[in-house]
Amino acid sequence: MCGIVGAVAQRNIVSVLVEGLRRLEYRGYDSCGVAVLSHGEPRRARSVSRVSDLDAQVRDTHLEGFTGIAHTRWATHGAPVTHNAHPIFSRDAVALVHNGIIENYESLREMLRGKGYEFVSQTDTEVIAHLIHSMYRGDLFQTVREAVKQLHGAYAIAVIHKDQPHTVVGARQGSPLVVGVGQGENFLASDALALAGSTDRFAFLEEGDVVEITLDGVKIVDGEGVPAQREVRVVAAYGGAVELGPYRHFMQKEIFEQPRAITDTIPQGDHFDASLFGEGAADVFSGIDSLLILACGTSYYSGLTAKYWLESVAKIPTQVEIASEYRYRESVPNPKALVVVISQSGETADTLAALKHAQSLGHKHTLAVCNVATSAMVRLTELAFLTHAGTEIGVASTKAFTTQLVGLFVLAVTLGKLRGHVDATQEAAYLAQLRHLPAALNSVLALEPQIIAWAEEFARKENALFLGRGLHYPISLEGALKLKEISYIHAEAYPAGELKHGPLALVTEAMPVVTVAPNDALLEKLKSNMQEVRARGGELYVFADADTRIVSEDGIHVIRMPEHYGLLSPILHTVPLQLLAYHTACARGTDVDKPRNLAKSVTVE
Ligand code: M6R
Repeated sequence: MCGIVGAVAQRNIVSVLVEGLRRLEYRGYDSCGVAVLSHGEPRRARSVSRVSDLDAQVRDTHLEGFTGIAHTRWATHGAPVTHNAHPIFSRDAVALVHNGIIENYESLREMLRGKGYEFVSQTDTEVIAHLIHSMYRGDLFQTVREAVKQLHGAYAIAVIHKDQPHTVVGARQGSPLVVGVGQGENFLASDALALAGSTDRFAFLEEGDVVEITLDGVKIVDGEGVPAQREVRVVAAYGGAVELGPYRHFMQKEIFEQPRAITDTIPQGDHFDASLFGEGAADVFSGIDSLLILACGTSYYSGLTAKYWLESVAKIPTQVEIASEYRYRESVPNPKALVVVISQSGETADTLAALKHAQSLGHKHTLAVCNVATSAMVRLTELAFLTHAGTEIGVASTKAFTTQLVGLFVLAVTLGKLRGHVDATQEAAYLAQLRHLPAALNSVLALEPQIIAWAEEFARKENALFLGRGLHYPISLEGALKLKEISYIHAEAYPAGELKHGPLALVTEAMPVVTVAPNDALLEKLKSNMQEVRARGGELYVFADADTRIVSEDGIHVIRMPEHYGLLSPILHTVPLQLLAYHTACARGTDVDKPRNLAKSVTVE
């Protein structure tokens, strides 16, 4: 999704800006650009190709300046063509970059056309640049404060004006923006990761904030126009974590990092304790009667998996909702429910909005399961469980998902204990299973060569069905999502028992049917469902636990999972599906880490 970098320094900052864009590339974009103040004039370079192309352009044209802004754009309004790429100029005086969507841009455009402004792009962003230009009376900070009052929608912006050569002004509402604090230089970015290497000191702006950065100062006012201080935190973990190492793609690297990520996420100590979720969690947990989980995409599937754990281990009613649906439907709030938001980034616009919606309905108790400690979601919730996946670069979520599952399993056991459904023996057994998980995952990763052989077959298909039952149905959903998002093969997942109610009509010899077959209580039912597929000529590709007695035969291909893993089995069964999607995408030659049309962090609605 769109990314912003801005800088004011006493050195040429073009390389800092371009490097910042490079660090944001993983989020997905279709054009990029940079603008600097050079000898009192804004100059820019823009590209509808990669940041490396932009870098070549700025070198060729000797673009240099001490003050500048840069952007990666993920098109919403207007095609990904050069004239829509940011920075957007207004009358060669104002240069502006924008993340988000301005909902009232049409009325603003008409008003500005009436004032003689000519529009050269199809973006909603251009209205902001012209609006600021039309209102400018010598103080950019003041102008932006006034101008943003006229904007409806979500935005993070960074803007420069030719008459203020050592100033960048930013504002945020609904999209993230951070200030990077340096020595005699200061920065802005949509994600602190962009500034790794330039600073490790960050102030996270809050909704409605407007900020001015200069060489030696940072000035912030809040949404009410009141001067505000935002805590400056040292965030050291950003540097260096984005190297590819020996892997072909970040997705592959991140799949293989899962044993480490899970080890780091499993709590230390001998007990599942409410304090793992933050101060006051024990009180909160003892007063709740249900859970409402809100999330999107892969994170939603981890919520669906958690529902099985929460209801079977903790015996607590759990509702799971797609965040973008929840926020727009009339629901019946239950103040005794714990609202759980699950998110890798902690910045997903739909999940954030759903959280705020729940809070506005009177939900007091909120918990984030999140991979980014400094994210908006963690800052907005009462409690938090941080996953330790580390930076995830590939657009397809992998280690973020399995570490979320670990966090949610810990939540289920913790609540089960507090509610008297998990005794000391069970607690010790769950802890032992968690601790053994990284080793079990390594055995699953060793299946890669067998999965590559299957991927060669899948690469020639255009459709696939995924089947699972019970606790593993959400895992089949996740497997189908992985395959479609990176290989572009149409894939759907069904609870296997649902097949005969419609989707069986799709099954022919041309339809590969991936089946998640753990050795659990539903195994015999699943085997019957597999026979239904075989009887219609469907080719089954089965990930079967040991002792399932499912064997390879005509039309049934089996990869044997090393061991059955009880309640944590969904975590193990996720990994071969990730590898299948990954190798199928490689065989089809897609852009695995940056699949078409998608973005890593979906910060617009
Ligand atoms: O950062 P989040 O976990 O909130 O992101 C939610 C989804 O956008 C994300 O999981 C998406 O579905 C992934 N690309 C799937 O691989």
